Amino acid sequence: ETEASTATAASHINPGIRKEEPKVVDSVVASELDKPLVAYCRCWRSEKFPLCDGAHAKFNKETGDNVGPLLVKK
Ligand code: FES
Repeated sequence: ETEASTATAASHINPGIRKEEPKVVDSVVASELDKPLVAYCRCWRSEKFPLCDGAHAKFNKETGDNVGPLLVKK
């Protein structure tokens, strides 16, 4: 048995965002952003997903991980 086949829901990167979708994909056009800099979540814990709301700080503190947002500039 492979490691992947024995993985449980607890090991999923995404704990609960849009689980009804087969794959969570978002698209942005950088030139159409309404701000000069927008942060997008990569920790899958943001209440504003796909935007970063700072939840990565709590996640990193709890887990010792080092994840942070993707910054997109207009
Ligand atoms: Fe997820 Fe900031 S909240 S990267």
